[in-house]
Amino acid sequence: MKTIAIIPAAGSGTRMGAETNKLFLHLDKKPILIHTLEVFEASQAIDGVLLVVKPEEELEILALLKEHKIQKVIKCLAGGAERQDSIQNAIAALPKDATHVVVHDGARPFIKPSQVNDLVDQLKEKSSVIMAVPAKDTVKRVSPTGLVNETLDRSELWQIQTPQGFEREAIERAYELARTHRYRGTDDASLMENAGLPVHVTLGDYQNIKVTTEVDLVFGEAILKHRQGSK
Ligand code: CTP
Ligand code: MG
Repeated sequence: MKTIAIIPAAGSGTRMGAETNKLFLHLDKKPILIHTLEVFEASQAIDGVLLVVKPEEELEILALLKEHKIQKVIKCLAGGAERQDSIQNAIAALPKDATHVVVHDGARPFIKPSQVNDLVDQLKEKSSVIMAVPAKDTVKRVSPTGLVNETLDRSELWQIQTPQGFEREAIERAYELARTHRYRGTDDASLMENAGLPVHVTLGDYQNIKVTTEVDLVFGEAILKHRQGSK
């Protein structure tokens, strides 16, 4: 088994509304992206990292990797217009001998090395495993005019996170099919589903938030403080 992590970091952070890519923002005096990369640095199940960045931010990111002694990044690749394009570029650049791929958002710094290891372990039996948590809120389908059409059965609903792990051949096939059929999904697993390939969920962690809007920085600092307190 040779497992490569793909970490997309080429977004703009529009919803954060900061002046830079949100991944440069600090939590506990360290850039969010470095928090994320340190988890993969510490996970024995990960053999190397492909980091997807905006070309104009590559130099700044390379300097951060050096400063924080991140050593598992094999290559920095150029991102695309949307997340799916960024991942597609990374899949095309996988090392020849990679057998498995784990995709994880640069913007999810609170995943733990043991959780990445557990997910990779499950890839020995399943071709695709994604982290998820049961939905806490009631979810309704609402029309554009604000009229409620339907209440979904919450017992069946999961909120999907990353990491998402795949057999290399399966994810390559799913991305190739999405490219030829112009299918767009909001996560990697939806491309597998589109290709008719099975996807399994594994219980994730409510702490594994995606830092998306300004208030997530407040939650993020609180998560780190909570963890320091429990050490
Ligand atoms: N990402 C990427 N390439 C893109 C868009 C997103 O590599 N073209 C990355 C982001 O850097 C982030 C992850 O995908 O680590 C999840 O995306 P999201 O949280 O949506 O981040 P942004 O796209 O940067 O934020 P926003 O949607 O608010 O602009
Ligand atoms: Mg986005």
